[in-house]
Amino acid sequence: MAAIDRADPIIMGHILVGHRDLHDLVAAARAAFHAAGVSATGTAADVHERLVTLRDHLHSHFAEEESGGHLEESVSRMPRLNGAVKAVLAEHPGLLMELDALILRLARPDIPQTAWEQATRDFEAFARHLMAHERSENAVVQEGYNEDLGLTD
Ligand SMILES: [Fe+2]
Ligand SMILES: [Fe+2]
Repeated sequence: MAAIDRADPIIMGHILVGHRDLHDLVAAARAAFHAAGVSATGTAADVHERLVTLRDHLHSHFAEEESGGHLEESVSRMPRLNGAVKAVLAEHPGLLMELDALILRLARPDIPQTAWEQATRDFEAFARHLMAHERSENAVVQEGYNEDLGLTD
């Protein structure tokens, strides 16, 4: 019987750090939306800046995932995961487009209240889609490495 592969601790650590950074940036953007929504000094510019930072980070994160690394490694360890990895990577352009559309709408100082409320809801929808994406990705890598990463959210 073949020995069970152990996860490479460097790769595992990399996944954890990358995804936690994304969680932190989403939380920071959410806080900026909240601050802008409850105070008159609330700044659409702050929200915009947070979203641009998140967008830049997300773009690099996706590019890194697409250029090999832990997803590719999962497939080489377990070829039947090929379809799942392709499916998860195929979600990247849509997620970036969703965030880009939101950034574009907030790139002006005079945002009407109704548009602001809609943008806040759309951000939450985007955050849900991103977290679902990261969960699917974690599940694939976890299966590929046959290792419980302890990533449940
Ligand atoms: Fe991804
Ligand atoms: Fe990811």
